[in-house]
Amino acid sequence: MAVKKAAESAMRGLAEEVQKWGCMKQTGVSLRYMMDFGSNPNPRNLLIGAQFLHKELPIRIARRALELESLPFGLSHKPAVLKVRDWYLDSFRDLRCFPELKDSNDELAFTRMIKMIKVRHNNVVPTMALGVQQLKRDLDPRIHTGDLGEIHEFLNRFYMSRIGIRMLIGQHVALHDPNPEPGCVGQINTKLSPMLVAEHAAEDARAICMREYGSAPEVNIYGDPTFHFPYVPSHLHLMVFELVKNSLRAVEERFMDSDKVAPPVRIIVADGLEDVTIKISDEGGGIARSGLPRIFTYLYSTAKNLVGENYDHEAAGDGVIMAGYGCGLPISRLYARYFGGDLQIISMEGYGTDAYLHLSRLGDSQEPLP
Ligand SMILES: Nc1ncnc2c1ncn2[C@@H]1O[C@H](COP(=O)(O)OP(=O)(O)OP(=O)(O)O)[C@@H](O)[C@H]1O
Ligand SMILES: [Mg+2]
Repeated sequence: MAVKKAAESAMRGLAEEVQKWGCMKQTGVSLRYMMDFGSNPNPRNLLIGAQFLHKELPIRIARRALELESLPFGLSHKPAVLKVRDWYLDSFRDLRCFPELKDSNDELAFTRMIKMIKVRHNNVVPTMALGVQQLKRDLDPRIHTGDLGEIHEFLNRFYMSRIGIRMLIGQHVALHDPNPEPGCVGQINTKLSPMLVAEHAAEDARAICMREYGSAPEVNIYGDPTFHFPYVPSHLHLMVFELVKNSLRAVEERFMDSDKVAPPVRIIVADGLEDVTIKISDEGGGIARSGLPRIFTYLYSTAKNLVGENYDHEAAGDGVIMAGYGCGLPISRLYARYFGGDLQIISMEGYGTDAYLHLSRLGDSQEPLP
């Protein structure tokens, strides 16, 4: 009895803390700021960085935990969403239980802890996608999915915030690397060659296409191979990978039963003064104009084997598939926007699709803080 009472009171205490921290103001950082700050990762700076995260991460996490509890159409009560909510609450508790950081030893222990938090949240995107599917399954058929705009907006805020949280943790952890690659400041490569990243991302996408279809169209890349600019390679890789995957799938599906050779996907890298733009063009038949408004929603995919309830993400390991979550495009656009860029899709139905990925070169755009 006493144990139960103590547990209840602890829960109440946690809920009050989450409420309090969820209302505090978030502080954003720009790519340039992270680059400047991280250029000298001595113990003193690492301690300052960790002290900032010790205050900032619980604010960001509490905000998300609160939102997860008040979603429309009963989404908050779906088992998958409850699981995600518990991850957020556990991480909030871990952060708030960590005492004030006073020296390098505290800083090291804190870094280990936030590294673990990042791992805990690895599967948030597929788990949330599952929650939304559970909702769609149980929803009154009179509610049209077009009415789920509110949920779409929530997911945009939620995933944007997640990108920020993971960037902050990843950057701090990476600053501890005793032998960083030349030109790298934490997760940022100050001399990133977009052509090289595009090459790797295209190869990875082709490998998955091979696995799924038994063949893969060629991908040709055009641009200046010596050009470089500061960016986060993992972000760029993810965006190009998603776009090339979509293009390869469209081309495969269109030319699968034809005797014509599948036309290559073309990637063009343009280095402007303000933006680096990467265009990914395919001849996969394009997207009908009526379908275009839906491609950036989290609920839309034309994949046949849509990832469903029975899909075991943990057993699937890396879980990388050709298509099936319906969130490749909206998430790629969030990554682009996170550092001040954007993503646009232009389609010519009956011919093909052009994806324009704009990346801001200036790096001083403020972090979006939903
Ligand atoms: N290059 C393209 N050509 C034709 N259709 C496309 C192209 N890119 C996207 N689409 C359409 O937009 C839909 C949404 O794309 P998105 O990448 O967001 O999800 P997905 O590919 O279905 O699943 P995943 O989340 O696994 O990427 C696709 O299912 C497809 O119908
Ligand atoms: Mg996709």
